[in-house]
Amino acid sequence: MTTALRVEDLEAGYEPGLPIVRSASLAVAAGEIVAILGPNGAGKSTLIKAIAGLVPITAGRALLGDEDITAVPAHLMVRKGLGFVPQTENVFAGLSVEDNLDLAASLMRVPKRTRIAETFALFPDLARQRRLPAGALSGGQRQMLAVARALITGPRVLMLDEPSAGLSPKLVGQVFEKLQEIRRGGVTIVLVEQNARAALSIADRAAILVEGRERLVGPAAALAGDPQVAALYLGHGGRGAA
Ligand SMILES: Nc1ncnc2c1ncn2[C@@H]1O[C@H](COP(=O)(O)OP(=O)(O)OP(=O)(O)O)[C@@H](O)[C@H]1O
Ligand SMILES: [Mg+2]
Repeated sequence: MTTALRVEDLEAGYEPGLPIVRSASLAVAAGEIVAILGPNGAGKSTLIKAIAGLVPITAGRALLGDEDITAVPAHLMVRKGLGFVPQTENVFAGLSVEDNLDLAASLMRVPKRTRIAETFALFPDLARQRRLPAGALSGGQRQMLAVARALITGPRVLMLDEPSAGLSPKLVGQVFEKLQEIRRGGVTIVLVEQNARAALSIADRAAILVEGRERLVGPAAALAGDPQVAALYLGHGGRGAA
């Protein structure tokens, strides 16, 4: 089994002496979809932002494949093969769909035209709306564009922060189906989600993060029926368990 992404005893936070992620450890195998779940404020976003180089890591380390990326700044992550889709402000609303993709593709030393054509083949709805400003897209299509922007850089690992936020169940289904298609294309996926049910339905494994630490890690199918998961969400039942 090849490990695509690994964090070891990671500590990260916004202010010195106030860690939000406290000793989180997780290994993601190549080709997996791993969901990071947990209650509000657990540190899920902080964890993936820290891996992406956007929040300072104060202890532990992060590895992409065999490479230590703990100290790699955010703007260099794309070239290392790590894609990140933030929850908000993940597209340029005033730019057209095509210009959004063009800008993302410029981060790489690859022929842009080819990459944009490949991306439109994977996202035919975006191809039809290529001239529209991103701000005029529906919520679901805007989220697809955010995913497409990350994907156009050819990441080995794609991390997404709540891609289902604000979407109707039908659109959540469409976005998640697209993620499965992307995985079939060989991309490893790390998915932070509030929508535990939807995330567990496409994930191979999941980690429940509570107070900055992973508390329960296991196969998604097992966690979907585990009463401990609900208890951890409600903020009791897990404390002191390790
Ligand atoms: N930019 C920031 N500056 C200071 N503290 C922050 C910042 N962003 C988040 N925090 C704090 O870090 C803690 C964890 O926040 P984080 O956003 O990582 O949680 P989360 O698990 O993603 O929650 P949610 O499910 O609500 O998205 C919270 O206490 C939050 O107030
Ligand atoms: Mg969050």
